[in-house]
Amino acid sequence: MQIQQALSAACSALGLERLDAQLLLLHSLGRPQHDRAWLLAHDSDALDAEAEMRYIQLTRRRAAGTPLAYLTGQREFYGLALQVDARVLDPRPDTETLVDWALEHLTPQGSVVDLGTGSGAIALALQGQRPQAQVTAVDASPEALAVAQANAQRLGLAVTFRLGNWLAGLQGPFDLIVSNPPYIAEDDPHLEQLGHEPRLALTSGADGLDAIRVIVAQAPPCLNRGGWLLLEHGWDQAAAVHALLSQAGFTQVQSRQDLAGIERCSGGQWPSR
Ligand SMILES: C[S@@+](CC[C@H](N)C(=O)[O-])C[C@H]1O[C@@H](n2cnc3c(N)ncnc32)[C@H](O)[C@@H]1O
Repeated sequence: MQIQQALSAACSALGLERLDAQLLLLHSLGRPQHDRAWLLAHDSDALDAEAEMRYIQLTRRRAAGTPLAYLTGQREFYGLALQVDARVLDPRPDTETLVDWALEHLTPQGSVVDLGTGSGAIALALQGQRPQAQVTAVDASPEALAVAQANAQRLGLAVTFRLGNWLAGLQGPFDLIVSNPPYIAEDDPHLEQLGHEPRLALTSGADGLDAIRVIVAQAPPCLNRGGWLLLEHGWDQAAAVHALLSQAGFTQVQSRQDLAGIERCSGGQWPSR
């Protein structure tokens, strides 16, 4: 089969996006993901039998809902090439909004903890942008921490990793606490489409807010005066998160919009005195 035919078949017969089909074909051929121009230049080349078999298997798994990043093993986040697999959430581009906001508050030598680090995406992006900062990353999943630690090592970023339950047992105080915690309600019908990702990374109680309640309650003694707590949350949770932050004594409670213009992150400042 020719390259051009293989791509067309994946799109028409399996309903794949053309970009996904191209990236899976590059992966099957052992070529880098940025090499899409190579596919165009070689569209009449024939695939060898092994590459064709690999491609067929990968495109079937993609059509069945496996995240593209799990199939290629790679995800770019904030300019970093992360390795990801089914042990961690596939980092979403919208989470870069949280990183942008965190960087507004993280001074060059400041301290920050990333709660529920997963692949390490947020912590590694912050450490990459603030090489002198003290960056700690926590997760309750040893499997996720193994992925994050391997990413840190490969990227040469000196994040400190801790296995733990949110802020429990952490020394602090930190200048900044950031988290993209699980925030989907246990009975949310959309969970069906996310079945390939770890449940611990997705759901948090009947209304999806259990983890955020715990983090907001634990945060004040772990923050320096004037420090910030910044949280990613669901598309319809901004008002509830504002209420939790205000009730806990945070000031300047506000939100940031994601790439689609939805209030996706909320946070507040622990009062200076
Ligand atoms: C939505 S994922 C976020 C992963 C990563 N920060 C990102 O943005 O791609 C939530 C993470 O929280 C972790 N987690 C769940 N419960 C936890 C707990 N009690 N303490 C610490 N981490 C927890 C999960 O293992 C998962 O890695």
